Amino acid sequence: MLIAGNWKMFKGPRETGEFCRALREADLPEDVDVVVCPPYVSLAEAVQALAGTEIGVFAQNCHWEREGPYTGEISPALLLEIGVYGTIVGHSERRQLFGETDETVALRARAALEAGLHVIACVGETEAEREAGRTDEVLRRQVSVLEEDESLVVAYEPVWAIGTGKTATAEMAQQAHELVKSLLDVPVLYGGSVKPENAAELLGQPAVDGALVGGASLDVESFAAICRASSLVRS
Ligand code: 13P
Repeated sequence: MLIAGNWKMFKGPRETGEFCRALREADLPEDVDVVVCPPYVSLAEAVQALAGTEIGVFAQNCHWEREGPYTGEISPALLLEIGVYGTIVGHSERRQLFGETDETVALRARAALEAGLHVIACVGETEAEREAGRTDEVLRRQVSVLEEDESLVVAYEPVWAIGTGKTATAEMAQQAHELVKSLLDVPVLYGGSVKPENAAELLGQPAVDGALVGGASLDVESFAAICRASSLVRS
């Protein structure tokens, strides 16, 4: 089980330090892998504040080149230099708001894995795609550009469930995860309005290997509660 908190554009270094020190003291289950994904400017602070723990620090994106004239981008080498363990790629907010495509997601995933980072690659259909019965087709297309790797995890995040309070039903999640797993033999996380109250049901599905949590990961208590819920369903 892996529970990752995607902080998006929240928490500068000061708040990150406070959060991570509180997370160190929180009651976290030992059988769950826990990851936080702060904004770039807070990564070094998170690495430092979590040193000596099993909690991993991931970036929210990374470029495919090692270095070069790519204003505003960050490479795997730069992340590794400050002790970052992995990165998210292909989040739907990157795809929808910043022009990310299946091809650029594939480049980012491959380069990060080759450099030695762990990768959480996000996939998921929009509401219009689900309503048009195109969920499977979209997931197949998004997953087809990824290559199996022992350091790769896919996150299924239906776009209509992100930050909306709507979650996929446990059955929808199970179905989508089964499809992804039939294409790629990797762990699959569910993301989209995961909260302490709904975590056990979603994480109880056999094909759900963890969660990528947005809003509810910004508070230590609710994030720790989701981690505990994920431990209980598998014990
Ligand atoms: P919410 O949990 O806020 O819906 O966000 C999900 C998400 O996008 C995680 O990457």
